Amino acid sequence: MVAFWLLWGYILVCFSSLVHGLRIQEYLYFQVLSPGDIRYIFTATPAKDFGGVFNTRYEQIYLVPADPPEACGTLNNGVFIDGQIALVERGGCSFLSKTRIVQEHGGRAVIIADNAYDNDNSYVEMIQDSTQRTADIPALFLLGRDGYMIRRSLDQHGLPWAVISIPVNVTSIPTYELMQPPWTFW
Ligand SMILES: *[C@@H]1O[C@H](CO)[C@@H](O)[C@H](O)[C@H]1NC(C)=O
Repeated sequence: MVAFWLLWGYILVCFSSLVHGLRIQEYLYFQVLSPGDIRYIFTATPAKDFGGVFNTRYEQIYLVPADPPEACGTLNNGVFIDGQIALVERGGCSFLSKTRIVQEHGGRAVIIADNAYDNDNSYVEMIQDSTQRTADIPALFLLGRDGYMIRRSLDQHGLPWAVISIPVNVTSIPTYELMQPPWTFW
């Protein structure tokens, strides 16, 4: 009997260290408020081992597509990203480099969309590069399809940014499932 409880305790300890050590995939949600045709709740994943967390909830903040989109150097529209959130595309340099560039331009957070525009289900785990550098602002990964649809909508409307709420607590939204983008499979 004692052996049983010891074993059980051991299993529990292993399980909790697994949960805390590996950080089972977390999601963070944001809602586009405008433009209206993409007024959905989008799912993103925080970087695994760099960047900050959201200490406040932004009820309305601009999501500004970076120019150039990969944000590997100075941004032409950095003045619009100052105090707002940047939408960046994967590729050209590390996730951490992009995050630092956006931070240097005064961005409050960065959302990095996959450059595979047909990716509508596979979240990439964003990790440190080998440079020992750090970043303080939150960095999130977004599916390629979602990033593409946001950019396309802004292009169609000739808008320089979307207005979003972030983070969104989806457990307090009863109709959450109905508010996900219609191109997402679930
Ligand atoms: C999210 O909303 C639920 C339901 O309203 C609430 O119980 C929970 O505490 C909220 N979580 C956070 C992190 O605010």
